[in-house]
Amino acid sequence: MKIGILTSGGDAPGMNAILYKLISSVDNDTKIIAFINGYQGLIENNFIVLEKKLVMNCSHLGGSIIKSGRSEEFKTKQGFKKALTNIILNKLNLLIILGGDGSFKGAKELIANDIKVIFVPCTIDNDLEYSTQTLGFDSAVNAVVESFDKIKQTMLSNNRIFLCEVMGRHCPDIAKTCFKATDSTYLISKKQDLNLKKIYKSISIALEKGEEAPSIIVKENLVNIYNLAKDIQNYFDIETRACQIGYIQRGTQPSVFDRIYARDFVIEIINCIKQNINNVALGIKNNEIFKLNLRNDL
Ligand code: F6P
Repeated sequence: MKIGILTSGGDAPGMNAILYKLISSVDNDTKIIAFINGYQGLIENNFIVLEKKLVMNCSHLGGSIIKSGRSEEFKTKQGFKKALTNIILNKLNLLIILGGDGSFKGAKELIANDIKVIFVPCTIDNDLEYSTQTLGFDSAVNAVVESFDKIKQTMLSNNRIFLCEVMGRHCPDIAKTCFKATDSTYLISKKQDLNLKKIYKSISIALEKGEEAPSIIVKENLVNIYNLAKDIQNYFDIETRACQIGYIQRGTQPSVFDRIYARDFVIEIINCIKQNINNVALGIKNNEIFKLNLRNDL
């Protein structure tokens, strides 16, 4: 059997763990080739043979050893056709795609063109509707909370108000989860939350209750946090700082939960291979792995 695998979109902690577990779990007659840089690797027929020694020392690290990326060319008719041709020329029996929302659309497109696919939800954003959790999300929120705690310590030492911007693209889940976990003062996870009156009121209440460093969690792409910090500082006459947690939350090592999910995803992939099940998206519901039949979805 010959399997292709690729990691697509923003990399996510746990992708390397999947690569390692997969290569360790297949039988000796199975060859795995890894396309470099997501769908772009398919278009350019740029691949390496995945070998255990290549991934064995990086399963505990974030990122993707086979590179991940977003391919604009794959969205074009010509690019898609090149990718299809290369899958056929390589005689792949199965293509395993690890990625988020955009990659999921690509996976469905390939299935519609008779390619056998297994999709695994891997993104820190948690933006796949069919799955309550994606691989990488737990690691990302843990990384945010760890950074937040450190920032809070210095803010407390100076009695400052502070804003922390987190990732998530269109999905508010990282912001919402970190807001709860850090017991922050105010959450800006959607446009409607950008209400200065409400923001000032929450901070006033927190200050009255003795909070020494009120905090605001902000989802990215909603507001310029540095300007908002200035407004808050002018209103309260209290030093206010803003910081973006940034790529630390994406490049972090996989959390315990994500390592276990990576392992469980591979167990399910192997079950699918043994039972000749494909054209499915794997997901997580109630901490359990499930399969969504994508043929019905087309
Ligand atoms: O999709 C993951 C993600 O980290 C988003 O949260 C963020 O908006 C985006 O990728 C950043 O992308 P780039 O790596 O292109 O800056």
